Amino acid sequence: MQRFLIFFLLALGSWASEKEATKEGFVRISPENPVVEFGGSLVLNCSASCETIGLETAFTKVPNGTGSNWKAFLLTDIRDWVSDPLCYANCGDHQPKPASATITIYKPPESVELDLVPEMEAGKPYDLTCRVYGVAPIWHLTVTLLKGAEQLLVKTFEDHTAPEAGPVVVKHTIIAQRNDHKKPITCQTSLDLRPRGPLLKNTSHSILRIFDFAGIPQLHAGLFLEAGTEMTVTCDASEVSPAEEAAFDLRFAGKPLTLNTRVTGGVASAQAVVIPSSVGEHELLCRVSLGPVTKNVKKMVNVFALPKPILQIDHSEAVVNQMVNVTCSADGNASPGFKMQIRDAAKILASSNQDQPFLQHEVITQEEDNGREFICQVILIVGGHPKERSSSQKLTVFYGPQIDDSKCPHTLTWEEGSRTSFTCSALGNPTPTVQCWKDGRPYSIGEQQLVKRDHDGIYHCNATNQYGSDVRDVTVHVESPQPIGLIVGCVIGAVVIIACAAAVAYYIYYNEQRIGIYHLRKQGKHRQSPQAVGNSAEQRFLNGKANV
Ligand SMILES: *[C@@H]1O[C@H](CO)[C@@H](O)[C@H](O)[C@H]1NC(C)=O
Ligand SMILES: *[C@@H]1O[C@H](CO)[C@@H](O)[C@H](O)[C@H]1NC(C)=O
Ligand SMILES: *[C@@H]1O[C@H](CO)[C@@H](O)[C@H](O)[C@H]1NC(C)=O
Ligand SMILES: *[C@@H]1O[C@H](CO)[C@@H](O)[C@H](O)[C@H]1NC(C)=O
Repeated sequence: MQRFLIFFLLALGSWASEKEATKEGFVRISPENPVVEFGGSLVLNCSASCETIGLETAFTKVPNGTGSNWKAFLLTDIRDWVSDPLCYANCGDHQPKPASATITIYKPPESVELDLVPEMEAGKPYDLTCRVYGVAPIWHLTVTLLKGAEQLLVKTFEDHTAPEAGPVVVKHTIIAQRNDHKKPITCQTSLDLRPRGPLLKNTSHSILRIFDFAGIPQLHAGLFLEAGTEMTVTCDASEVSPAEEAAFDLRFAGKPLTLNTRVTGGVASAQAVVIPSSVGEHELLCRVSLGPVTKNVKKMVNVFALPKPILQIDHSEAVVNQMVNVTCSADGNASPGFKMQIRDAAKILASSNQDQPFLQHEVITQEEDNGREFICQVILIVGGHPKERSSSQKLTVFYGPQIDDSKCPHTLTWEEGSRTSFTCSALGNPTPTVQCWKDGRPYSIGEQQLVKRDHDGIYHCNATNQYGSDVRDVTVHVESPQPIGLIVGCVIGAVVIIACAAAVAYYIYYNEQRIGIYHLRKQGKHRQSPQAVGNSAEQRFLNGKANV
């Protein structure tokens, strides 16, 4: 009941005000809040309580239909940002209040531009800037900055009041991160005129280029290099990202080298071959560029030149006691400070002063100089270490034969029945021919032979070559073998023979005595012979013996 009463009162109020409006007249404009693209056109419908209806506007207008109490107009070329059209009516005695429309003129951005994203160095801050030109109305605009799909910034302009198209600049600072390399950056504008207008989206893209070059490049090269020889040098850049994009420039003595670059396990490296031509200290430079970062590393390389040593012996074939000149000379490019020396296997024979390219040494040849090797040496101290180069030549010395005791002794003792050979050789260059004679006949040297008694004697030997001869008499003693067993055997044999002889002698004597007794006894029976009387003493002795 109470509700109904309130409703009734409200309805009564409404009717009362309408009654008043009708009485005073009215003007309406439709649509009241149109949204039009800049430069576009629009139909406005003015309706009123009477028939005399007009539209006041700065835009070009043409009638676009009419009816009782309404009139439509087509407005074209809408370019005025702040002009509001006004509908009015002339109702004779009274003027109803005119109605105006608020036009929203929009303009999609003329351009959306992301400032050129610079090549970035990881860890450093950089500004991302998006510039939007010629957009209206700005308070309907939203600018979003994205990295990949991630929103970095969303910017709106509710507080912007001017309806004109204008530029908008949005800035955002990021810290460059290695992982963001090659990620897209998007600046997205959205002009949202809904529900009465469209939603307009525009974008601009860019790609992040982020480089990380924390490490210091390493240059691998020797500090010393002989002129004319090659040296492979390597420049490594570790802790680089992206390693594939590292750009190398290697220069030696200011000249660029031909490079071979590669990436292994996150390390970028470049290799080149240096072939220096000029002597001295030269700079080896490696420049590594990665995005915005460039790093240099250099080394000084000492290029030295060792001249070529040349050894000359003026008479490389000499006779004994001849004077021979050994010269050592240097040929070719030489670093200052080199020295030369002439030496043999045992010692230094001559040394030069610094930078003197010629050296001489005189030798008076001796027999032992035959085959002696002379060495010409060039020495240069490079970085505290001697570098040397040498050449050599051998000397030949010709000399006459010399029979040596160890090779041809004065006496030899041989044992009869053994096997041996007669040797006799001599020193000399060329190797001497040795001939020996015994008893006027040539004797062949060096043959194995069975020693006989007649080998005993004197051998006359003669060693010859074209530089002379040498002679020697070798006495050979041949001894009979006297083994100890034979001597012992002979001694025993002799003793046995003596013993046998003694035994035989006794036997003979005894037998003779027996015969004598027999005869005596026989004779005793008959007569006593004077011989028997002479032997009686002996007989007694024998008897006595027999009695024992
Ligand atoms: C203009 O408005 C009137 C009253 O609201 C309506 O009857 C008429 O159809 C409209 N005309 C056009 C062209 O929209
Ligand atoms: C923005 O987008 C609208 C349509 O969506 C297009 O007409 C306009 O040319 C675009 N502006 C730019 C700068 O690309
Ligand atoms: C060796 O050289 C010296 C000096 O150059 C010279 O006087 C001498 O005659 C030379 N000797 C020989 C054997 O060539
Ligand atoms: C050694 O032989 C050479 C050449 O056959 C000869 O000229 C020389 O007289 C000989 N010497 C002796 C001592 O026989």
